[in-house]
Amino acid sequence: MEDKKVLYSAIQPTNNLTIGNYVGAIKNWLNLQENYDCYFSIANMHAITVRQNPAELRQKTLALLALYIACGIDPEKCCLYVQSHVPAHAELCWVLNTFTYVGEMERMTQFKDKSLRHAENINMGLMDYPVLMAADILLYQAQYVPVGEDQRQHLEIARDIAQRFNNALTPTFTVPEGLFMKVGAKINDLQDPSKKMSKSAENPNGSIFLTDDRDTIIRKFKRAVTDSGSEIKYDPMSKPGVSNLLSIYSVFADKSIAEAESEFNGVGYGDFKLAVGETVADRLAPVQAEQAKLLADKEYLNTVLKKGAERAMKTAGRTLSKVYKKIGFYQI
Ligand code: TYM
Repeated sequence: MEDKKVLYSAIQPTNNLTIGNYVGAIKNWLNLQENYDCYFSIANMHAITVRQNPAELRQKTLALLALYIACGIDPEKCCLYVQSHVPAHAELCWVLNTFTYVGEMERMTQFKDKSLRHAENINMGLMDYPVLMAADILLYQAQYVPVGEDQRQHLEIARDIAQRFNNALTPTFTVPEGLFMKVGAKINDLQDPSKKMSKSAENPNGSIFLTDDRDTIIRKFKRAVTDSGSEIKYDPMSKPGVSNLLSIYSVFADKSIAEAESEFNGVGYGDFKLAVGETVADRLAPVQAEQAKLLADKEYLNTVLKKGAERAMKTAGRTLSKVYKKIGFYQI
Protein backbone atom coordinates (compact mmCIF):
# COMPACT_ATOMS: atom_id res chain seq x y z
CA MET A 1 0.00 0.00 0.00
CA GLU A 2 2.75 2.46 1.02
CA ASP A 3 4.63 2.44 -2.28
CA LYS A 4 1.54 2.90 -4.43
CA LYS A 5 0.91 6.34 -5.90
CA VAL A 6 -2.04 8.21 -4.48
CA LEU A 7 -5.16 8.84 -6.52
CA TYR A 8 -8.01 11.13 -5.45
CA SER A 9 -11.46 11.85 -6.77
CA ALA A 10 -14.90 12.86 -5.56
CA ILE A 11 -18.49 13.33 -6.62
CA GLN A 12 -21.08 15.68 -5.19
CA PRO A 13 -24.13 13.97 -3.67
CA THR A 14 -26.54 16.25 -5.50
CA ASN A 15 -29.49 15.60 -7.76
CA ASN A 16 -29.51 12.31 -9.56
CA LEU A 17 -26.25 11.09 -10.94
CA THR A 18 -26.17 10.57 -14.70
CA ILE A 19 -24.35 8.09 -16.88
CA GLY A 20 -21.95 11.01 -17.50
CA ASN A 21 -20.82 10.75 -13.87
CA TYR A 22 -20.63 6.99 -14.19
CA VAL A 23 -18.61 7.02 -17.40
CA GLY A 24 -16.48 10.09 -16.65
CA ALA A 25 -15.70 9.08 -13.09
CA ILE A 26 -16.78 5.86 -11.36
CA LYS A 27 -16.19 3.51 -14.32
CA ASN A 28 -12.54 4.61 -14.51
CA TRP A 29 -12.03 4.28 -10.81
CA LEU A 30 -12.81 0.57 -11.06
CA ASN A 31 -9.63 -0.23 -12.95
CA LEU A 32 -7.54 2.29 -11.09
CA GLN A 33 -8.33 0.93 -7.63
CA GLU A 34 -6.11 -2.08 -8.29
CA ASN A 35 -2.95 -0.08 -8.84
CA TYR A 36 -3.24 3.04 -6.73
CA ASP A 37 -3.79 4.08 -3.17
CA CYS A 38 -7.27 5.50 -3.79
CA TYR A 39 -9.31 8.06 -1.88
CA PHE A 40 -12.85 8.56 -3.15
CA SER A 41 -14.89 11.10 -1.30
CA ILE A 42 -18.49 12.24 -1.23
CA ALA A 43 -18.20 15.99 -1.66
CA ASN A 44 -21.06 17.23 0.52
CA MET A 45 -19.23 20.46 1.36
CA HIS A 46 -19.12 21.30 -2.32
CA ALA A 47 -22.80 20.38 -2.59
CA ILE A 48 -23.98 23.13 -0.24
CA THR A 49 -22.62 25.87 -2.51
CA VAL A 50 -26.04 25.49 -4.13
CA ARG A 51 -29.01 25.40 -1.76
CA GLN A 52 -29.91 21.82 -0.77
CA ASN A 53 -32.79 20.20 1.03
CA PRO A 54 -31.08 18.94 4.24
CA ALA A 55 -33.00 15.65 4.49
CA GLU A 56 -32.34 14.92 0.83
CA LEU A 57 -28.65 15.77 1.14
CA ARG A 58 -28.32 13.30 4.01
CA GLN A 59 -30.11 10.59 2.02
CA LYS A 60 -28.11 11.24 -1.14
CA THR A 61 -24.85 11.05 0.77
CA LEU A 62 -25.59 7.49 1.79
CA ALA A 63 -27.03 6.67 -1.64
CA LEU A 64 -23.80 7.81 -3.28
CA LEU A 65 -21.73 5.63 -0.99
CA ALA A 66 -24.00 2.69 -1.82
CA LEU A 67 -23.58 3.49 -5.50
CA TYR A 68 -19.77 3.55 -5.27
CA ILE A 69 -19.83 0.10 -3.71
CA ALA A 70 -22.55 -1.22 -6.01
CA CYS A 71 -20.47 -0.18 -9.02
CA GLY A 72 -17.60 -2.26 -7.72
CA ILE A 73 -15.47 0.20 -5.74
CA ASP A 74 -14.09 -1.95 -2.96
CA PRO A 75 -14.07 -0.32 0.48
CA GLU A 76 -11.39 -2.77 1.56
CA LYS A 77 -9.06 -1.44 -1.12
CA CYS A 78 -10.06 2.22 -1.24
CA CYS A 79 -10.74 4.89 1.33
CA LEU A 80 -14.37 5.90 0.92
CA TYR A 81 -15.44 8.81 3.10
CA VAL A 82 -17.61 11.87 3.45
CA GLN A 83 -15.79 15.18 3.00
CA SER A 84 -17.39 16.90 6.02
CA HIS A 85 -16.20 14.08 8.29
CA VAL A 86 -12.63 15.30 7.83
CA PRO A 87 -12.28 18.84 9.23
CA ALA A 88 -8.87 19.29 7.57
CA HIS A 89 -10.63 20.04 4.25
CA ALA A 90 -12.11 23.28 5.54
CA GLU A 91 -8.92 24.10 7.44
CA LEU A 92 -6.59 23.70 4.47
CA CYS A 93 -9.08 25.52 2.26
CA TRP A 94 -8.70 28.56 4.49
CA VAL A 95 -4.92 28.57 4.17
CA LEU A 96 -5.07 28.03 0.41
CA ASN A 97 -7.50 30.91 0.09
CA THR A 98 -4.61 33.17 1.00
CA PHE A 99 -2.68 31.76 -1.97
CA THR A 100 -5.51 32.28 -4.45
CA TYR A 101 -6.51 35.49 -6.20
CA VAL A 102 -10.07 36.70 -6.48
CA GLY A 103 -9.58 37.37 -10.21
CA GLU A 104 -8.66 33.73 -10.82
CA MET A 105 -11.84 32.54 -9.19
CA GLU A 106 -14.00 35.03 -11.05
CA ARG A 107 -12.67 33.65 -14.33
CA MET A 108 -13.67 30.02 -13.62
CA THR A 109 -16.13 28.81 -16.26
CA GLN A 110 -18.19 26.77 -13.84
CA PHE A 111 -18.48 29.72 -11.44
CA LYS A 112 -19.71 31.92 -14.26
CA ASP A 113 -22.22 29.27 -15.41
CA LYS A 114 -23.53 28.59 -11.94
CA SER A 115 -23.76 32.31 -11.17
CA LEU A 116 -26.09 32.64 -14.14
CA ARG A 117 -28.17 29.63 -13.10
CA HIS A 118 -28.33 30.63 -9.43
CA ALA A 119 -28.35 34.40 -9.76
CA GLU A 120 -30.27 34.73 -6.49
CA ASN A 121 -27.54 32.96 -4.53
CA ILE A 122 -24.04 33.80 -5.75
CA ASN A 123 -22.47 32.98 -2.40
CA MET A 124 -18.80 33.03 -1.38
CA GLY A 125 -18.76 29.22 -1.28
CA LEU A 126 -19.68 29.03 -4.94
CA MET A 127 -16.72 31.21 -5.78
CA ASP A 128 -14.40 29.39 -3.39
CA TYR A 129 -15.39 25.97 -4.69
CA PRO A 130 -12.15 25.36 -6.68
CA VAL A 131 -10.01 26.18 -3.64
CA LEU A 132 -11.88 23.61 -1.55
CA MET A 133 -11.35 21.15 -4.38
CA ALA A 134 -7.62 21.96 -4.36
CA ALA A 135 -7.57 21.36 -0.60
CA ASP A 136 -9.27 17.98 -1.12
CA ILE A 137 -6.62 16.85 -3.55
CA LEU A 138 -3.54 18.36 -1.90
CA LEU A 139 -4.34 17.03 1.59
CA TYR A 140 -3.76 13.49 0.34
CA GLN A 141 -0.66 14.36 -1.74
CA ALA A 142 -2.48 12.88 -4.69
CA GLN A 143 -0.49 12.30 -7.83
CA TYR A 144 -3.47 11.59 -10.06
CA VAL A 145 -7.02 12.89 -10.20
CA PRO A 146 -9.37 11.02 -12.56
CA VAL A 147 -12.18 13.36 -13.58
CA GLY A 148 -14.30 14.30 -16.58
CA GLU A 149 -13.42 17.11 -18.97
CA ASP A 150 -15.57 19.65 -17.11
CA GLN A 151 -13.18 19.54 -14.14
CA ARG A 152 -10.04 20.30 -16.18
CA GLN A 153 -9.98 23.98 -15.26
CA HIS A 154 -10.42 23.23 -11.56
CA LEU A 155 -7.54 20.82 -11.72
CA GLU A 156 -5.32 23.41 -13.39
CA ILE A 157 -6.00 25.86 -10.59
CA ALA A 158 -5.24 23.19 -7.99
CA ARG A 159 -1.86 22.70 -9.66
CA ASP A 160 -1.23 26.46 -9.71
CA ILE A 161 -2.10 26.79 -6.02
CA ALA A 162 0.14 23.86 -5.09
CA GLN A 163 3.06 25.27 -7.05
CA ARG A 164 2.55 28.73 -5.61
CA PHE A 165 2.60 27.39 -2.06
CA ASN A 166 5.60 25.17 -2.80
CA ASN A 167 7.54 28.07 -4.29
CA ALA A 168 6.72 30.40 -1.41
CA LEU A 169 7.29 28.00 1.48
CA THR A 170 9.44 25.10 0.16
CA PRO A 171 8.02 21.94 -1.46
CA THR A 172 5.04 20.74 0.53
CA PHE A 173 2.42 19.46 -1.89
CA THR A 174 2.58 16.91 -4.67
CA VAL A 175 1.48 18.73 -7.81
CA PRO A 176 -1.45 16.63 -9.07
CA GLU A 177 -2.13 15.55 -12.63
CA GLY A 178 -5.56 15.04 -14.16
CA LEU A 179 -6.43 11.67 -15.65
CA PHE A 180 -8.85 12.10 -18.52
CA MET A 181 -10.14 9.15 -20.45
CA LYS A 182 -9.92 9.15 -24.25
CA VAL A 183 -13.51 7.99 -24.62
CA GLY A 184 -16.19 9.17 -22.26
CA ALA A 185 -14.45 12.14 -20.61
CA LYS A 186 -17.40 14.17 -21.82
CA ILE A 187 -20.75 12.49 -22.33
CA ASN A 188 -23.15 14.92 -23.95
CA ASP A 189 -26.85 15.62 -23.58
CA LEU A 190 -29.03 13.30 -25.67
CA GLN A 191 -31.30 16.14 -26.73
CA ASP A 192 -28.54 18.69 -27.31
CA PRO A 193 -25.20 17.00 -28.02
CA SER A 194 -23.39 20.35 -27.92
CA LYS A 195 -23.86 20.41 -24.12
CA LYS A 196 -22.51 18.04 -21.48
CA MET A 197 -24.98 15.64 -19.91
CA SER A 198 -25.74 17.19 -16.56
CA LYS A 199 -27.42 16.24 -13.29
CA SER A 200 -29.29 19.52 -13.40
CA ALA A 201 -30.29 19.67 -17.07
CA GLU A 202 -33.52 21.50 -17.82
CA ASN A 203 -34.79 18.76 -20.11
CA PRO A 204 -34.69 15.41 -18.27
CA ASN A 205 -34.94 13.55 -21.60
CA GLY A 206 -31.39 14.61 -22.39
CA SER A 207 -29.89 12.87 -19.35
CA ILE A 208 -29.90 9.21 -18.39
CA PHE A 209 -30.03 9.09 -14.62
CA LEU A 210 -28.55 6.14 -12.80
CA THR A 211 -31.93 5.72 -11.13
CA ASP A 212 -33.88 5.51 -14.42
CA ASP A 213 -35.70 2.22 -15.02
CA ARG A 214 -35.26 0.14 -18.14
CA ASP A 215 -38.27 1.54 -20.02
CA THR A 216 -37.27 5.12 -19.30
CA ILE A 217 -33.68 4.49 -20.43
CA ILE A 218 -34.79 2.92 -23.69
CA ARG A 219 -37.40 5.61 -24.32
CA LYS A 220 -34.82 8.37 -23.81
CA PHE A 221 -32.32 6.71 -26.15
CA LYS A 222 -34.99 6.19 -28.80
CA ARG A 223 -35.69 9.92 -28.67
CA ALA A 224 -32.01 10.90 -28.75
CA VAL A 225 -31.09 13.47 -31.37
CA THR A 226 -29.08 12.06 -34.28
CA ASP A 227 -27.53 13.79 -37.26
CA SER A 228 -28.16 14.12 -40.97
CA GLY A 229 -27.08 11.23 -43.16
CA SER A 230 -27.51 7.63 -42.13
CA GLU A 231 -23.98 6.39 -41.44
CA ILE A 232 -23.00 5.35 -37.92
CA LYS A 233 -19.55 6.89 -37.76
CA TYR A 234 -17.51 8.51 -35.00
CA ASP A 235 -17.02 12.11 -36.07
CA PRO A 236 -17.78 14.52 -33.22
CA MET A 237 -17.54 17.61 -35.45
CA SER A 238 -20.05 16.67 -38.13
CA LYS A 239 -21.93 13.91 -36.27
CA PRO A 240 -22.09 15.00 -32.61
CA GLY A 241 -25.26 13.05 -31.79
CA VAL A 242 -24.16 9.72 -33.28
CA SER A 243 -20.62 10.12 -31.90
CA ASN A 244 -21.98 10.70 -28.41
CA LEU A 245 -24.09 7.54 -28.66
CA LEU A 246 -21.10 5.58 -29.96
CA SER A 247 -19.01 6.77 -26.99
CA ILE A 248 -21.72 5.69 -24.57
CA TYR A 249 -22.06 2.33 -26.28
CA SER A 250 -18.33 1.76 -26.41
CA VAL A 251 -17.98 2.32 -22.66
CA PHE A 252 -21.04 0.32 -21.63
CA ALA A 253 -20.33 -2.58 -23.99
CA ASP A 254 -16.58 -2.55 -23.24
CA LYS A 255 -15.74 -2.25 -26.93
CA SER A 256 -13.52 0.15 -28.83
CA ILE A 257 -15.08 2.85 -30.99
CA ALA A 258 -13.83 1.04 -34.11
CA GLU A 259 -15.47 -2.21 -32.97
CA ALA A 260 -18.71 -0.37 -32.29
CA GLU A 261 -18.62 1.31 -35.72
CA SER A 262 -18.17 -1.99 -37.54
CA GLU A 263 -20.88 -3.65 -35.45
CA PHE A 264 -23.37 -0.99 -36.55
CA ASN A 265 -22.20 -0.79 -40.13
CA GLY A 266 -25.34 -0.60 -42.29
CA VAL A 267 -27.72 -0.53 -39.30
CA GLY A 268 -30.39 2.21 -39.24
CA TYR A 269 -30.46 4.95 -36.59
CA GLY A 270 -33.58 3.51 -34.95
CA ASP A 271 -32.08 0.07 -34.33
CA PHE A 272 -28.77 1.61 -33.30
CA LYS A 273 -30.42 3.78 -30.64
CA LEU A 274 -32.40 0.83 -29.35
CA ALA A 275 -29.23 -1.26 -29.06
CA VAL A 276 -27.43 1.49 -27.13
CA GLY A 277 -30.43 1.84 -24.80
CA GLU A 278 -30.64 -1.88 -24.14
CA THR A 279 -26.91 -2.14 -23.48
CA VAL A 280 -27.00 0.71 -20.97
CA ALA A 281 -30.14 -0.65 -19.28
CA ASP A 282 -28.61 -4.14 -19.01
CA ARG A 283 -25.48 -2.73 -17.42
CA LEU A 284 -27.31 -0.50 -14.94
CA ALA A 285 -29.91 -3.02 -13.73
CA PRO A 286 -27.56 -5.06 -11.49
CA VAL A 287 -25.96 -1.87 -10.14
CA GLN A 288 -29.36 -0.49 -9.20
CA ALA A 289 -30.36 -3.73 -7.50
CA GLU A 290 -27.12 -3.90 -5.54
CA GLN A 291 -27.41 -0.25 -4.52
CA ALA A 292 -30.91 -0.86 -3.14
CA LYS A 293 -29.67 -3.88 -1.21
CA LEU A 294 -26.80 -1.93 0.29
CA LEU A 295 -29.03 0.98 1.23
CA ALA A 296 -31.09 -1.37 3.35
CA ASP A 297 -28.01 -2.08 5.46
CA LYS A 298 -27.28 1.28 7.00
CA GLU A 299 -25.13 -0.23 9.70
CA TYR A 300 -22.70 -1.61 7.14
CA LEU A 301 -22.56 1.69 5.27
CA ASN A 302 -21.88 3.57 8.50
CA THR A 303 -19.05 1.18 9.31
CA VAL A 304 -17.47 1.85 5.92
CA LEU A 305 -17.76 5.60 6.46
CA LYS A 306 -16.30 5.45 9.95
CA LYS A 307 -13.31 3.46 8.80
CA GLY A 308 -12.91 5.76 5.79
CA ALA A 309 -13.05 8.92 7.91
CA GLU A 310 -10.45 7.58 10.33
CA ARG A 311 -8.05 6.74 7.57
CA ALA A 312 -8.65 9.99 5.69
CA MET A 313 -8.21 12.03 8.87
CA LYS A 314 -4.85 10.44 9.51
CA THR A 315 -3.46 11.21 6.06
CA ALA A 316 -5.03 14.66 5.85
CA GLY A 317 -3.90 15.54 9.38
CA ARG A 318 -0.30 14.82 8.46
CA THR A 319 -0.38 17.25 5.54
CA LEU A 320 -2.25 19.90 7.48
CA SER A 321 0.22 19.94 10.33
CA LYS A 322 3.09 20.27 7.84
CA VAL A 323 1.29 23.23 6.28
CA TYR A 324 0.61 24.85 9.64
CA LYS A 325 4.27 24.56 10.55
CA LYS A 326 5.44 26.07 7.28
CA ILE A 327 2.99 28.91 7.42
CA GLY A 328 4.11 29.86 10.92
CA PHE A 329 1.18 28.77 13.06
CA TYR A 330 2.41 28.37 16.62
CA GLN A 331 1.96 24.77 17.65
CA ILE A 332 1.69 23.36 21.18
P1 TYM B 1 -19.46 16.37 -10.08
O1 TYM B 1 -20.15 15.84 -8.89
O2 TYM B 1 -20.11 17.48 -10.84
O3 TYM B 1 -19.16 15.21 -11.12
C1 TYM B 1 -18.53 14.02 -10.72
C2 TYM B 1 -17.62 13.48 -11.82
O4 TYM B 1 -18.37 13.21 -12.99
C3 TYM B 1 -17.75 13.83 -14.11
N1 TYM B 1 -18.80 14.20 -15.07
C4 TYM B 1 -18.80 13.83 -16.36
N2 TYM B 1 -17.96 13.07 -17.08
C5 TYM B 1 -18.26 12.85 -18.38
N3 TYM B 1 -19.37 13.35 -18.99
C6 TYM B 1 -20.24 14.11 -18.29
N4 TYM B 1 -21.33 14.58 -18.90
C7 TYM B 1 -19.98 14.38 -16.92
N5 TYM B 1 -20.64 15.07 -15.95
C8 TYM B 1 -19.90 14.95 -14.83
C9 TYM B 1 -17.04 15.04 -13.52
O5 TYM B 1 -16.03 15.51 -14.36
C10 TYM B 1 -16.52 14.47 -12.23
O6 TYM B 1 -15.31 13.76 -12.45
N6 TYM B 1 -16.00 19.35 -8.11
C11 TYM B 1 -16.28 17.97 -8.45
C12 TYM B 1 -16.23 17.04 -7.25
C13 TYM B 1 -14.97 17.16 -6.49
C14 TYM B 1 -13.71 16.64 -6.88
C15 TYM B 1 -12.82 16.97 -5.80
C16 TYM B 1 -13.26 15.91 -7.97
C17 TYM B 1 -14.84 17.76 -5.28
N7 TYM B 1 -13.54 17.64 -4.85
C18 TYM B 1 -11.48 16.62 -5.85
C19 TYM B 1 -11.90 15.55 -8.01
C20 TYM B 1 -11.03 15.92 -6.96
C21 TYM B 1 -17.69 17.90 -9.02
O7 TYM B 1 -18.48 18.74 -8.79
O8 TYM B 1 -17.97 16.78 -9.72
